[in-house]
Amino acid sequence: MINQSLIVEETTEFVREKLSGETTGHDWFHTERVFRLANYIAEKEGADIFIVQLASLLHDIADWKFHDGNEEKGPEIAATWLNNSGLDKSRINLIRDIIREVTFKGNKVENKISTIEGKVVQDADRLDAIGAIGIARAFAYGGYRGNEIYNPALKPKNHNSFEEYKKNKGTTINHFYEKLLLLKDMMNTQTGREIAEKRHKFMEIFLENFYKEWNLDL
Ligand code: ADP
Ligand code: NI
Repeated sequence: MINQSLIVEETTEFVREKLSGETTGHDWFHTERVFRLANYIAEKEGADIFIVQLASLLHDIADWKFHDGNEEKGPEIAATWLNNSGLDKSRINLIRDIIREVTFKGNKVENKISTIEGKVVQDADRLDAIGAIGIARAFAYGGYRGNEIYNPALKPKNHNSFEEYKKNKGTTINHFYEKLLLLKDMMNTQTGREIAEKRHKFMEIFLENFYKEWNLDL
């Protein structure tokens, strides 16, 4: 028998050490928030808590954006870690698939998730991309990419493939229309939808005020 809480504890330390101090919005605190939210949703939705805990902890261990677009890096590092921790192959594969599937690939790209555990982790990850924290992360990431905050001449785009989405160099305000405002309707679970509703409203108010200030509507 494996000691589940020990694996979760050791994985927490492994990820914390790897992601601490990261400044593009994929820092350890993002993972910690996703972990906490995923636990909450998993309980409400009746998903396997252990799988959800490990997958949420490991979901951003090596994002494609920071590994020359290599989408396999994260799932691979996670699988190696879990293998060394003594987890059985079938659960390792399950977690590896979840990590592979949760990433957002562009607003016109189909994104299928087969397990309830994957759905929960994806909802938690997406919820951290919207609302007040989502806004903060978007501007942090946009700055890191060297993108403008806003440029009235640049219109939002649809991305028909993951390749197109990866290369995108638009403004951060456009990112709201290309991704953030769409997430509410892409939630997998009822619990996720309810939380998304509140965070979505806050982003709408933010944008409304942003344009008001921009246009000197005092
Ligand atoms: P996921 O966690 O689904 O992989 P991403 O890694 O794409 O999501 O995004 C991580 C964070 O960076 C999110 O808060 C997201 O909104 C933000 N982000 C991603 N792409 C952009 C962009 N082009 N401009 C601004 N923020 C972005
Ligand atoms: Ni994430």
